[in-house]
Amino acid sequence: SRYLIFFPVYSKNLLCWTLQIKPRVFNEYRAMWFKSCRMTFSYVNRMKKCRYPWTRLYSTSHTTVDSSEIKTFLVLAHKWWDEQGVYAPLHSMNDLRVPFIRDNLLKTIPNHQPGKPLSGMKILDVGCGGGLLTEPLGRLGASVIGIDPVDENIKTAQRHKSFDPVLDKRIEYRACSLEEIVEETAETFDAVVASEVVEHVIDLETFLQCCCQVLKPSGSLFITTINKTQLSYALGIIFSEQIAGIVPKGTHTWEKFVSPEKLESILEPNGLSVQTVAGMLYNPFSGYWHWSENTSINYAAHAVKSRVQEHPVPAESVLTEETEELRANVHTSPGVHEELKR
Ligand SMILES: C[S@@+](CC[C@H](N)C(=O)[O-])C[C@H]1O[C@@H](n2cnc3c(N)ncnc32)[C@H](O)[C@@H]1O
Repeated sequence: SRYLIFFPVYSKNLLCWTLQIKPRVFNEYRAMWFKSCRMTFSYVNRMKKCRYPWTRLYSTSHTTVDSSEIKTFLVLAHKWWDEQGVYAPLHSMNDLRVPFIRDNLLKTIPNHQPGKPLSGMKILDVGCGGGLLTEPLGRLGASVIGIDPVDENIKTAQRHKSFDPVLDKRIEYRACSLEEIVEETAETFDAVVASEVVEHVIDLETFLQCCCQVLKPSGSLFITTINKTQLSYALGIIFSEQIAGIVPKGTHTWEKFVSPEKLESILEPNGLSVQTVAGMLYNPFSGYWHWSENTSINYAAHAVKSRVQEHPVPAESVLTEETEELRANVHTSPGVHEELKR
Protein backbone atom coordinates (compact mmCIF):
# COMPACT_ATOMS: atom_id res chain seq x y z
CA SER A 1 0.00 0.00 0.00
CA ARG A 2 3.00 2.29 0.64
CA TYR A 3 3.99 1.86 -3.03
CA LEU A 4 0.44 2.64 -4.14
CA ILE A 5 0.30 5.83 -2.06
CA PHE A 6 3.62 7.04 -3.42
CA PHE A 7 3.07 5.80 -6.95
CA PRO A 8 2.17 9.20 -8.50
CA VAL A 9 5.27 10.89 -7.01
CA TYR A 10 7.71 7.99 -7.44
CA SER A 11 10.08 8.72 -10.31
CA LYS A 12 10.01 6.26 -13.19
CA ASN A 13 13.76 5.45 -12.96
CA LEU A 14 13.60 4.84 -9.22
CA LEU A 15 10.68 2.47 -9.72
CA CYS A 16 12.51 0.57 -12.47
CA TRP A 17 15.48 0.20 -10.19
CA THR A 18 13.33 -0.93 -7.22
CA LEU A 19 11.45 -3.47 -9.31
CA GLN A 20 14.62 -4.51 -11.17
CA ILE A 21 13.00 -4.12 -14.59
CA LYS A 22 13.97 -2.32 -17.81
CA PRO A 23 12.19 1.04 -18.58
CA ARG A 24 10.54 -0.52 -21.71
CA VAL A 25 9.06 -3.34 -19.61
CA PHE A 26 7.99 -0.77 -16.98
CA ASN A 27 6.03 1.11 -19.71
CA GLU A 28 4.25 -2.12 -20.69
CA TYR A 29 3.39 -2.87 -17.03
CA ARG A 30 2.05 0.65 -16.60
CA ALA A 31 -0.14 0.34 -19.71
CA MET A 32 -1.47 -3.01 -18.47
CA TRP A 33 -2.20 -1.56 -15.04
CA PHE A 34 -4.23 1.33 -16.48
CA LYS A 35 -6.04 -1.03 -18.84
CA SER A 36 -7.00 -3.36 -16.01
CA CYS A 37 -8.28 -0.39 -13.92
CA ARG A 38 -10.37 0.79 -16.87
CA MET A 39 -11.85 -2.67 -17.38
CA THR A 40 -12.70 -2.97 -13.68
CA PHE A 41 -14.50 0.39 -13.68
CA SER A 42 -16.46 -0.34 -16.84
CA TYR A 43 -17.44 -3.75 -15.46
CA VAL A 44 -18.63 -2.20 -12.18
CA ASN A 45 -20.64 0.39 -14.15
CA ARG A 46 -22.23 -2.30 -16.29
CA MET A 47 -23.13 -4.29 -13.17
CA LYS A 48 -24.85 -1.21 -11.76
CA LYS A 49 -27.06 -0.94 -14.85
CA CYS A 50 -28.18 -4.59 -14.63
CA ARG A 51 -31.31 -4.94 -12.52
CA TYR A 52 -33.04 -8.06 -11.45
CA PRO A 53 -36.26 -8.40 -13.45
CA TRP A 54 -38.42 -8.67 -10.34
CA THR A 55 -37.04 -5.44 -8.84
CA ARG A 56 -37.36 -3.42 -12.07
CA LEU A 57 -40.76 -1.96 -11.36
CA TYR A 58 -40.64 -1.28 -7.70
CA SER A 59 -37.13 0.04 -7.16
CA THR A 60 -37.85 3.78 -7.49
CA SER A 61 -38.77 5.67 -4.35
CA HIS A 62 -41.62 7.42 -6.22
CA THR A 63 -43.30 4.37 -7.67
CA THR A 64 -47.07 4.46 -8.00
CA VAL A 65 -47.18 0.71 -8.48
CA ASP A 66 -48.67 -1.36 -5.67
CA SER A 67 -47.10 -4.81 -5.75
CA SER A 68 -50.19 -6.51 -4.29
CA GLU A 69 -52.30 -5.08 -7.16
CA ILE A 70 -49.75 -6.38 -9.63
CA LYS A 71 -50.15 -9.91 -8.29
CA THR A 72 -53.93 -9.69 -8.79
CA PHE A 73 -53.60 -8.54 -12.40
CA LEU A 74 -50.83 -11.03 -13.16
CA VAL A 75 -53.11 -13.97 -12.33
CA LEU A 76 -55.77 -12.66 -14.74
CA ALA A 77 -53.41 -11.62 -17.55
CA HIS A 78 -54.61 -14.27 -20.00
CA LYS A 79 -58.31 -13.37 -19.53
CA TRP A 80 -58.41 -9.90 -21.07
CA TRP A 81 -60.02 -10.84 -24.36
CA ASP A 82 -62.64 -13.22 -22.96
CA GLU A 83 -65.74 -11.10 -23.53
CA GLN A 84 -67.83 -13.20 -21.14
CA GLY A 85 -65.08 -13.46 -18.47
CA VAL A 86 -63.97 -11.32 -15.53
CA TYR A 87 -63.25 -8.35 -17.78
CA ALA A 88 -66.70 -8.38 -19.44
CA PRO A 89 -67.67 -5.05 -17.76
CA LEU A 90 -64.57 -3.41 -19.25
CA HIS A 91 -65.45 -4.71 -22.72
CA SER A 92 -68.93 -3.21 -22.51
CA MET A 93 -67.62 0.01 -20.93
CA ASN A 94 -66.12 0.76 -24.37
CA ASP A 95 -69.66 1.65 -25.51
CA LEU A 96 -69.42 4.74 -23.30
CA ARG A 97 -65.74 5.54 -22.92
CA VAL A 98 -64.68 5.31 -26.57
CA PRO A 99 -67.27 7.89 -27.78
CA PHE A 100 -66.55 10.01 -24.67
CA ILE A 101 -62.85 10.23 -25.57
CA ARG A 102 -63.46 10.53 -29.33
CA ASP A 103 -66.09 13.29 -29.12
CA ASN A 104 -64.15 15.39 -26.62
CA LEU A 105 -61.01 15.13 -28.75
CA LEU A 106 -62.88 15.97 -31.93
CA LYS A 107 -63.86 19.30 -30.39
CA THR A 108 -60.15 20.21 -30.55
CA ILE A 109 -59.55 19.13 -34.18
CA PRO A 110 -60.90 21.48 -36.86
CA ASN A 111 -60.82 19.00 -39.78
CA HIS A 112 -60.80 15.28 -39.43
CA GLN A 113 -60.62 12.40 -41.87
CA PRO A 114 -63.82 10.40 -42.18
CA GLY A 115 -63.21 6.87 -40.94
CA LYS A 116 -60.02 7.92 -39.11
CA PRO A 117 -61.20 10.89 -37.02
CA LEU A 118 -58.32 10.73 -34.52
CA SER A 119 -55.65 10.52 -37.20
CA GLY A 120 -52.58 12.59 -36.25
CA MET A 121 -53.32 12.38 -32.52
CA LYS A 122 -50.82 10.86 -30.08
CA ILE A 123 -52.49 9.12 -27.17
CA LEU A 124 -50.96 7.46 -24.09
CA ASP A 125 -53.10 4.71 -22.56
CA VAL A 126 -51.75 4.31 -19.02
CA GLY A 127 -52.50 0.97 -17.36
CA CYS A 128 -53.71 -0.40 -20.68
CA GLY A 129 -54.03 -3.99 -19.41
CA GLY A 130 -54.68 -6.25 -22.39
CA GLY A 131 -55.42 -3.31 -24.72
CA LEU A 132 -59.25 -3.33 -24.53
CA LEU A 133 -59.38 0.45 -24.89
CA THR A 134 -56.08 0.92 -26.74
CA GLU A 135 -57.30 -1.01 -29.79
CA PRO A 136 -60.50 0.98 -30.48
CA LEU A 137 -58.52 4.22 -30.09
CA GLY A 138 -56.02 2.92 -32.66
CA ARG A 139 -58.89 1.97 -34.96
CA LEU A 140 -60.09 5.57 -34.84
CA GLY A 141 -56.75 6.53 -36.43
CA ALA A 142 -54.75 7.66 -33.37
CA SER A 143 -51.14 6.62 -32.70
CA VAL A 144 -51.39 5.01 -29.31
CA ILE A 145 -48.77 3.95 -26.80
CA GLY A 146 -50.16 1.53 -24.24
CA ILE A 147 -48.17 1.02 -21.04
CA ASP A 148 -48.73 -1.31 -18.13
CA PRO A 149 -46.47 -2.41 -15.27
CA VAL A 150 -47.53 -6.05 -15.66
CA ASP A 151 -45.36 -7.73 -18.33
CA GLU A 152 -47.92 -10.49 -18.90
CA ASN A 153 -50.66 -7.92 -19.68
CA ILE A 154 -48.42 -6.36 -22.30
CA LYS A 155 -47.68 -9.77 -23.85
CA THR A 156 -51.42 -10.44 -24.13
CA ALA A 157 -51.98 -6.98 -25.65
CA GLN A 158 -49.11 -7.45 -28.14
CA ARG A 159 -50.40 -10.83 -29.24
CA HIS A 160 -53.93 -9.53 -29.75
CA LYS A 161 -52.98 -6.46 -31.79
CA SER A 162 -50.73 -8.58 -34.04
CA PHE A 163 -53.89 -10.17 -35.51
CA ASP A 164 -54.72 -6.82 -37.13
CA PRO A 165 -51.94 -5.42 -39.40
CA VAL A 166 -53.41 -1.89 -39.29
CA LEU A 167 -53.31 -1.79 -35.48
CA ASP A 168 -49.87 -3.33 -35.45
CA LYS A 169 -48.53 -0.11 -37.01
CA ARG A 170 -50.57 2.36 -34.95
CA ILE A 171 -50.13 0.85 -31.49
CA GLU A 172 -46.96 0.41 -29.47
CA TYR A 173 -46.97 -1.39 -26.13
CA ARG A 174 -44.42 -1.08 -23.34
CA ALA A 175 -44.17 -2.90 -20.03
CA CYS A 176 -43.41 -0.03 -17.67
CA SER A 177 -44.99 2.41 -15.26
CA LEU A 178 -45.75 6.02 -16.14
CA GLU A 179 -43.13 7.43 -13.80
CA GLU A 180 -40.45 5.40 -15.61
CA ILE A 181 -41.12 7.17 -18.92
CA VAL A 182 -42.23 10.58 -17.72
CA GLU A 183 -38.95 12.34 -18.50
CA GLU A 184 -38.42 10.91 -21.97
CA THR A 185 -42.05 11.64 -23.00
CA ALA A 186 -42.57 15.08 -21.42
CA GLU A 187 -45.21 17.14 -23.33
CA THR A 188 -45.54 14.46 -26.01
CA PHE A 189 -49.21 13.46 -26.01
CA ASP A 190 -52.40 15.10 -27.21
CA ALA A 191 -54.32 12.89 -24.81
CA VAL A 192 -53.63 10.67 -21.82
CA VAL A 193 -56.13 8.00 -20.88
CA ALA A 194 -56.18 6.26 -17.49
CA SER A 195 -59.31 4.14 -17.48
CA GLU A 196 -60.07 2.16 -14.31
CA VAL A 197 -56.48 2.68 -13.13
CA VAL A 198 -56.33 5.46 -10.50
CA GLU A 199 -58.13 3.27 -7.95
CA HIS A 200 -55.22 0.82 -8.18
CA VAL A 201 -52.24 3.15 -7.76
CA ILE A 202 -50.35 4.22 -4.68
CA ASP A 203 -49.38 7.89 -4.52
CA LEU A 204 -52.23 9.26 -6.61
CA GLU A 205 -50.67 12.72 -6.60
CA THR A 206 -47.45 11.58 -8.27
CA PHE A 207 -49.45 9.54 -10.77
CA LEU A 208 -51.59 12.53 -11.79
CA GLN A 209 -48.59 14.88 -11.89
CA CYS A 210 -46.91 12.47 -14.32
CA CYS A 211 -50.09 12.42 -16.47
CA CYS A 212 -49.94 16.21 -16.60
CA GLN A 213 -46.24 16.29 -17.48
CA VAL A 214 -46.55 14.01 -20.50
CA LEU A 215 -49.44 16.04 -21.94
CA LYS A 216 -48.85 18.78 -24.50
CA PRO A 217 -50.28 22.19 -23.54
CA SER A 218 -54.05 22.08 -24.26
CA GLY A 219 -53.90 18.27 -24.16
CA SER A 220 -56.73 16.20 -22.66
CA LEU A 221 -56.71 13.81 -19.73
CA PHE A 222 -59.44 11.17 -19.58
CA ILE A 223 -60.08 9.22 -16.40
CA THR A 224 -62.72 6.68 -15.54
CA THR A 225 -62.85 5.40 -11.99
CA ILE A 226 -64.97 4.63 -8.90
CA ASN A 227 -66.17 7.30 -6.49
CA LYS A 228 -65.45 7.00 -2.77
CA THR A 229 -68.96 6.83 -1.30
CA GLN A 230 -70.96 4.48 0.93
CA LEU A 231 -72.88 3.36 -2.16
CA SER A 232 -69.66 2.49 -4.03
CA TYR A 233 -68.61 0.40 -1.02
CA ALA A 234 -71.94 -1.43 -0.97
CA LEU A 235 -72.21 -1.98 -4.73
CA GLY A 236 -68.57 -1.89 -5.89
CA ILE A 237 -67.17 -4.18 -3.20
CA ILE A 238 -69.90 -6.02 -1.27
CA PHE A 239 -72.25 -6.68 -4.19
CA SER A 240 -69.86 -6.87 -7.19
CA GLU A 241 -67.08 -8.82 -5.50
CA GLN A 242 -68.66 -10.76 -2.67
CA ILE A 243 -72.27 -11.43 -3.75
CA ALA A 244 -72.57 -11.36 -7.54
CA GLY A 245 -68.92 -12.17 -8.37
CA ILE A 246 -68.93 -9.63 -11.23
CA VAL A 247 -65.25 -8.93 -10.47
CA PRO A 248 -62.89 -11.24 -8.55
CA LYS A 249 -62.67 -10.81 -4.77
CA GLY A 250 -59.93 -8.42 -3.67
CA THR A 251 -59.85 -6.50 -6.98
CA HIS A 252 -60.73 -3.23 -5.24
CA THR A 253 -59.83 -1.49 -1.99
CA TRP A 254 -62.39 1.12 -0.91
CA GLU A 255 -59.71 3.34 0.67
CA LYS A 256 -58.16 3.80 -2.77
CA PHE A 257 -61.39 4.94 -4.46
CA VAL A 258 -61.23 8.55 -5.63
CA SER A 259 -63.97 11.17 -5.48
CA PRO A 260 -64.28 13.70 -8.33
CA GLU A 261 -63.55 16.45 -5.78
CA LYS A 262 -60.29 14.78 -4.75
CA LEU A 263 -59.34 14.33 -8.39
CA GLU A 264 -60.04 17.98 -9.12
CA SER A 265 -58.12 19.13 -6.03
CA ILE A 266 -54.99 17.45 -7.43
CA LEU A 267 -55.52 18.30 -11.09
CA GLU A 268 -56.23 22.03 -10.75
CA PRO A 269 -52.93 22.99 -9.02
CA ASN A 270 -51.15 20.99 -11.72
CA GLY A 271 -52.61 23.15 -14.46
CA LEU A 272 -55.47 20.88 -15.53
CA SER A 273 -59.01 22.17 -15.51
CA VAL A 274 -61.81 19.65 -15.20
CA GLN A 275 -64.34 20.14 -18.01
CA THR A 276 -66.73 17.24 -17.50
CA VAL A 277 -67.61 14.70 -14.83
CA ALA A 278 -70.25 12.24 -16.01
CA GLY A 279 -71.80 9.41 -13.99
CA MET A 280 -71.77 5.86 -15.39
CA LEU A 281 -74.03 3.07 -14.17
CA TYR A 282 -73.57 -0.64 -14.80
CA ASN A 283 -76.54 -2.97 -15.10
CA PRO A 284 -75.30 -6.40 -13.95
CA PHE A 285 -78.33 -8.13 -15.49
CA SER A 286 -77.95 -6.74 -19.02
CA GLY A 287 -74.17 -6.34 -18.78
CA TYR A 288 -74.45 -2.82 -20.26
CA TRP A 289 -73.40 0.60 -19.03
CA HIS A 290 -75.31 3.83 -19.43
CA TRP A 291 -74.66 7.50 -18.68
CA SER A 292 -76.24 8.94 -15.55
CA GLU A 293 -76.33 12.22 -13.65
CA ASN A 294 -75.46 10.16 -10.60
CA THR A 295 -71.68 10.10 -10.08
CA SER A 296 -71.77 8.30 -6.74
CA ILE A 297 -70.48 4.99 -8.10
CA ASN A 298 -68.62 5.09 -11.42
CA TYR A 299 -67.76 8.23 -13.36
CA ALA A 300 -65.75 9.53 -16.30
CA ALA A 301 -63.80 12.78 -16.14
CA HIS A 302 -62.25 14.95 -18.83
CA ALA A 303 -59.66 17.60 -17.91
CA VAL A 304 -57.68 19.93 -20.16
CA LYS A 305 -54.13 21.14 -19.58
CA SER A 306 -53.67 24.90 -19.69
CA ARG A 307 -52.00 26.52 -22.69
CA VAL A 308 -49.69 28.60 -20.51
CA GLN A 309 -46.07 27.51 -20.73
CA GLU A 310 -44.87 25.69 -17.65
CA HIS A 311 -41.42 27.30 -17.92
CA PRO A 312 -42.13 30.96 -18.59
CA VAL A 313 -39.53 32.89 -20.57
CA PRO A 314 -37.26 34.68 -18.07
CA ALA A 315 -38.31 38.33 -17.61
CA GLU A 316 -34.75 39.44 -18.49
CA SER A 317 -34.87 38.02 -22.01
CA VAL A 318 -38.33 39.50 -22.63
CA LEU A 319 -36.96 42.91 -21.59
CA THR A 320 -33.94 42.52 -23.90
CA GLU A 321 -36.24 41.72 -26.82
CA GLU A 322 -38.44 44.74 -26.04
CA THR A 323 -35.43 47.04 -25.76
CA GLU A 324 -34.09 45.81 -29.12
CA GLU A 325 -37.46 46.60 -30.68
CA LEU A 326 -37.50 50.10 -29.21
CA ARG A 327 -33.93 50.74 -30.45
CA ALA A 328 -35.02 49.74 -33.93
CA ASN A 329 -37.85 52.31 -33.78
CA VAL A 330 -35.79 55.09 -32.24
CA HIS A 331 -35.47 57.06 -35.50
CA THR A 332 -39.08 56.82 -36.51
CA SER A 333 -40.95 57.60 -33.28
CA PRO A 334 -39.81 60.46 -31.04
CA GLY A 335 -41.50 59.10 -27.87
CA VAL A 336 -39.29 56.05 -28.00
CA HIS A 337 -36.36 57.87 -26.30
CA GLU A 338 -38.41 58.32 -23.15
CA GLU A 339 -39.52 54.72 -23.28
CA LEU A 340 -35.92 53.50 -23.71
CA LYS A 341 -34.77 55.54 -20.70
CA ARG A 342 -37.44 53.88 -18.57
C1 LIG B 1 -58.80 -2.52 -14.13
S1 LIG B 1 -57.41 -2.64 -15.17
C2 LIG B 1 -57.83 -1.50 -16.48
C3 LIG B 1 -57.19 -1.89 -17.78
C4 LIG B 1 -57.53 -0.98 -18.96
N1 LIG B 1 -57.28 0.40 -18.69
C5 LIG B 1 -58.97 -1.16 -19.35
O1 LIG B 1 -59.81 -0.39 -18.88
O2 LIG B 1 -59.27 -2.08 -20.10
C6 LIG B 1 -56.15 -1.71 -14.28
C7 LIG B 1 -54.78 -1.77 -14.96
O3 LIG B 1 -53.93 -0.81 -14.33
C8 LIG B 1 -52.64 -1.36 -14.22
N2 LIG B 1 -51.96 -0.65 -13.14
C9 LIG B 1 -52.00 -0.88 -11.81
N3 LIG B 1 -51.24 0.00 -11.15
C10 LIG B 1 -50.73 0.83 -12.08
C11 LIG B 1 -49.84 1.96 -12.01
N4 LIG B 1 -49.39 2.40 -10.85
N5 LIG B 1 -49.51 2.57 -13.15
C12 LIG B 1 -50.01 2.13 -14.34
N6 LIG B 1 -50.82 1.08 -14.45
C13 LIG B 1 -51.19 0.43 -13.34
C14 LIG B 1 -52.87 -2.82 -13.94
O4 LIG B 1 -51.76 -3.61 -14.28
C15 LIG B 1 -54.09 -3.11 -14.83
O5 LIG B 1 -53.73 -3.56 -16.09
